Amino acid sequence: MPLHLTTSPAEKADTVLLAFKKDQANEGLIKEYAGLEYMPDLSFAAKEQHILYHPGQKRRIILLGLGEEKDASKLYLFFRSCIHQLKTKGNLVLHVPTSHFTDEVLYNAVIGLRKSLINNGMYRTNGQKTEEPEITVVIDEKQSEIAHEALHVAESQIGAMKLIDTPSNIKNPAYIASYAQASGKAHGFTVKVLDAQKLEELGMKALLAVGQGSDSPPVCIVMEYKPSGSTSQKPALGLVGKGISFDTGGISIKPSANMGFMKSDMSGAAAVIGAIEAAARLQLSIHVVGVVPAAENSVDAKSMRPGDVIGSYSGKTIEVLDTDAEGRLILADGLSYIIKNHKPEHLIDLATLTGSCIATLGNVAAGIFTKNDQMANVLFGLGEKVNERIWRLPMWEDYMTEMQSDIADIKNLSSKPVAGAITAAKFLEFFVEEHQSWAHLDIAGVAFTESEFARTRTSTGFGIRLLLEYMKMLG
Ligand code: BES
Ligand code: ZN
Ligand code: ZN
Repeated sequence: MPLHLTTSPAEKADTVLLAFKKDQANEGLIKEYAGLEYMPDLSFAAKEQHILYHPGQKRRIILLGLGEEKDASKLYLFFRSCIHQLKTKGNLVLHVPTSHFTDEVLYNAVIGLRKSLINNGMYRTNGQKTEEPEITVVIDEKQSEIAHEALHVAESQIGAMKLIDTPSNIKNPAYIASYAQASGKAHGFTVKVLDAQKLEELGMKALLAVGQGSDSPPVCIVMEYKPSGSTSQKPALGLVGKGISFDTGGISIKPSANMGFMKSDMSGAAAVIGAIEAAARLQLSIHVVGVVPAAENSVDAKSMRPGDVIGSYSGKTIEVLDTDAEGRLILADGLSYIIKNHKPEHLIDLATLTGSCIATLGNVAAGIFTKNDQMANVLFGLGEKVNERIWRLPMWEDYMTEMQSDIADIKNLSSKPVAGAITAAKFLEFFVEEHQSWAHLDIAGVAFTESEFARTRTSTGFGIRLLLEYMKMLG
């Protein structure tokens, strides 16, 4: 394990990280570790950083500013960024004293420090040779529970992030299913994989239609976490995640520039798997079911064509005018399936659904679409807390007129090239029907982004902490 939580570190550190909130530096700690006989004139504003060297002992001391209350939701990023930069300096044996941290700071510190160890070079041939830094978070006994909880959350996020960053020649629908199965086995939730034959029997025709152009058949992954001893029949929460293992656009093919980023078109699926994993790791007292329809949207003689009319699990017919609007097709089946078979009290779907959502909110916030004000408000507040921001867009009936088809019950493309994120949400609503507590999150702009942590876009793990907070609140 590259990150240790301990009350008494065994190894000697070559580096010590001292982090303080603005104007709250602890003189005793600075004196103890840095050997300074006076307080340096630092304010410890957000992300402020200084490196000192102990005058006598061979030890590097990093002073890190944690800023003010308004910076609290981004604390984990300050820690991740600080150690990410330091990693390039070679071997690192780091100690992080935390006895002066509040629970919130400690939680974020553990998450950020664990994430600073992410190694994106998983397919580099010299990847094995690079030295792993050792991070020891030095905690008090009474901080143990919160620190361990944070580490579980970070591990769930990192697993999901790695899955998103995995190339699509490796990550086909079956691979996503194996990931879920392995996670379920390791952490204690059940995983059922409906294979193509089963999907035929069940009539999940929209999911099958999207996957029909690929050599890797579609699957539907059904996960269930129940607290021990629970006799609950109906889950309090149902989650559905878009699991497109690669999106070429199909016959309505995408331009080639940046198409490689479409390996991340299963980020909704990864968020759902990661959130259920986190719930199981933390043994939350909530019954939750997750459904991940997974397929590859490929170009092939067998692919569906623009203009085709397909069926769906709900029995409703769909005119497919654009094969690149495939996410809503597989989600239609995922949503109908979870509602019919599990009847969740609350229902949330997450999907990298539209470029339109990125045009609207950029890489700053996900779109939330719901008629349930309470869900919108609660999720907004939780998103602010964990730096997974969401912003509400309208669901007025006026948008539905553009989705009506002459030949089928609905079409998958709006007649007008405007308000694409909203018309996509209206499409989903047609399959959710009368469910009173459903919210759709369009995470296209926030799941896979540029950052200081890599040369190209990489996964953020968006959604896992948000869903976890929501589950804690329900449970
Ligand atoms: N997976 C894409 C949406 C997307 C785009 C996610 C960019 C992340 C980054 C989705 O399947 C798609 O292609 N949507 C189309 C819908 C359109 C054809 C109605 C889009 O947004 O252009
Ligand atoms: Zn698409
Ligand atoms: Zn897509």
